[in-house]
Amino acid sequence: MRSVTVFAPATVANVGSAFDVLGFAVAAPGDTVTVRRSATPGISISEITGDNGLLSKEPSRNTAGVSVVALLKHLQHRESGRFSDIGLEISLVKGLPIGSGLGSSSASTVAAVVAANELCGAPLSREELLPFAMEGERVACGAGHADNVAPALLGGFVLIRSYEPLDVIHLPTPSHVWVTVLSPNLELKTQDARKVLKRSVSLESAISQWGNVAALVAGIYKNDVGLMGRALEDRIVEPERAQLIPGYAAAKRAAIEAGAAGCSISGSGPSVFALTDCEKTAHRVGAAMKDAFAALDIASNSYVSQINGTGAVVTHKE
Ligand code: HSE
Repeated sequence: MRSVTVFAPATVANVGSAFDVLGFAVAAPGDTVTVRRSATPGISISEITGDNGLLSKEPSRNTAGVSVVALLKHLQHRESGRFSDIGLEISLVKGLPIGSGLGSSSASTVAAVVAANELCGAPLSREELLPFAMEGERVACGAGHADNVAPALLGGFVLIRSYEPLDVIHLPTPSHVWVTVLSPNLELKTQDARKVLKRSVSLESAISQWGNVAALVAGIYKNDVGLMGRALEDRIVEPERAQLIPGYAAAKRAAIEAGAAGCSISGSGPSVFALTDCEKTAHRVGAAMKDAFAALDIASNSYVSQINGTGAVVTHKE
């Protein structure tokens, strides 16, 4: 095999109440990465398109590069030098806007590690690739959270019960849920959106939050969109971050009025997501949120899909 191409989808992290511990994948948009064998040992990034020149081609400063370097180092150690003179060249097509709250860095990172692993003969399982994909997140925003990379890698809803040690639970994919993701043309860096968060919370807020997180997981198991929508309620993170997104309150109101079961910030924002029980309502909700942002002269893109139960997929091998 000389080259492998992988598509990894956008993801909605936090899912309202479950900050840093729950995320799910949607069908599209996403990023596509091709990893090719190269005669020159080591990792290089030959081409990045769709990033408006924002991303570095220096592997140590690129999330996909960092993750593939970490993966290769692990394989070299584990397989006693078997991959010591391997050369891999990465090319990346960004379908996801950067700083959008759609898991843009995660999609590139996951697509790159899946492709590199495949090119090395698939020595690691999807679950085993997770720590390497998380390395990329550490570079992207200073925190190695897994609520974007895990669903991009595994598909569906993924719960992170613990980070140390890493304990990741793949939840069932509810079939009745439709997701509308609205991505306004604004940029918000995850690093900045994490800085505004309070370091401590009251017992009252914590009680409300764990009730909602538990209900969210129950809603996923019961395939109950109404319960999932109610359980998006977030008293800890949303109030702080809502202030960073002009038009958020109006968009959320518009989504609920248009029939959404619930609405919240996607990841660290500025994208917004809403859950509904049918495709028609999901489109209506998207149009309503789009109008709310347009009233502030903010253009946006709307994406409607069901939950993507598959995650990253190999689209081409040669
Ligand atoms: N859980 C992370 C955060 C996701 O909200 O900061 C970032 O996309």
